[in-house]
Amino acid sequence: MDAPKLAVYASHSALQIITGGRREGLNVTLFGPAERLTFYRRFRALQMSTLECTNEDCIEKLNSLSDHVVVPNGSLVEYVGAKNVLELKTPLIGSKGLLWIESRWNRKMNLLMDAGLPVPKWFSRPEEVDRLVIVKLPGAKGGRGYILTDSPGEINESLREYVRKGIISDASEAYIQEYVVGIPVYAHYFMSPIMNRLEITGFDVRYETNVDGLRRLSHRRAAEIKPSFVVGGNFPVYLRESLIETYIECGERFVEATGRYLGKPVVGPFCLESVVTEDLTPVFFEFSGRIVAGTNVYMDGSPYLEFYWGERMNVGQRIAREVRLAAEQGRIDEVVT
Ligand SMILES: Nc1ncnc2c1ncn2[C@@H]1O[C@H](COP(=O)(O)OP(=O)(O)O)[C@@H](O)[C@H]1O
Ligand SMILES: [Mg+2]
Repeated sequence: MDAPKLAVYASHSALQIITGGRREGLNVTLFGPAERLTFYRRFRALQMSTLECTNEDCIEKLNSLSDHVVVPNGSLVEYVGAKNVLELKTPLIGSKGLLWIESRWNRKMNLLMDAGLPVPKWFSRPEEVDRLVIVKLPGAKGGRGYILTDSPGEINESLREYVRKGIISDASEAYIQEYVVGIPVYAHYFMSPIMNRLEITGFDVRYETNVDGLRRLSHRRAAEIKPSFVVGGNFPVYLRESLIETYIECGERFVEATGRYLGKPVVGPFCLESVVTEDLTPVFFEFSGRIVAGTNVYMDGSPYLEFYWGERMNVGQRIAREVRLAAEQGRIDEVVT
């Protein structure tokens, strides 16, 4: 097969996928609504082709790019929708099945539990809530609309409001999860069928408004303001080395479980999202079955990928390398769905 081209939605982690793809010698097509493309065209040194599409006709337009491999990011899943991504005929690096599992809370959390990973307690009805919980909406909304409360009445009221505004179609789409006290850690992985190994690519923590802003205020003032979790950016986290080992073991269990669920383990980047409690146990509150925006903190190259490859590369380049090696070895079917 000739070197494939990459296609990526113009948002989220597109900058590192464009630069990483070019470093591996692959051409990259950036697709999305016109105003998104305009933003990337400001950066004159970025080398890419562009394909204008709406979120509605994007899958149809992508299906005509048969010499491409689509790299799914959070914006593709959120704006185009996991269900529509299933209709994609152009190969996608990663696992469409996992994106579908990820799009519903029950399916998603069942997979984590099936992997034997500790998860927070959850409540099927607001009336059962007996502690501080975080109420979550479906999809990759970057924390938008999440509610922190211990009050069943407040949950019912907020969910009614979300249904009324059309944000969710039914209150049961929301997920009521115990709020775990500890430090958030987002662990980034890359599962490589070509190298037959799981690589750890880094860790991040999010910078969220206004929960991270509240610590600038006195306790008295902060107590009057409701925290919200809308992500504005990310910081790298360098974990103690013993914890890195814990995360590698958890990642391996997750990969095995995806194999049981999907018939073929997850391929490419994914993220396990956790809170580490004071006894240094990670509790996994969700996962993302594709590249996460937190990998942007290693845009210049992940120090962890250097331990496997002897060179620094960002996750965009790591994806491109997997695609390039697979194509060179006639094994592209092993890395796409
Ligand atoms: N069960 C939980 N306990 C404590 N904090 C949580 C829990 N679930 C999510 N969070 C926090 O909520 C924020 C939003 O997380 P996340 O669920 O990953 O959002 P999204 O997937 O919508 O981008 C993060 O700060 C995360 O650490
Ligand atoms: Mg998340």
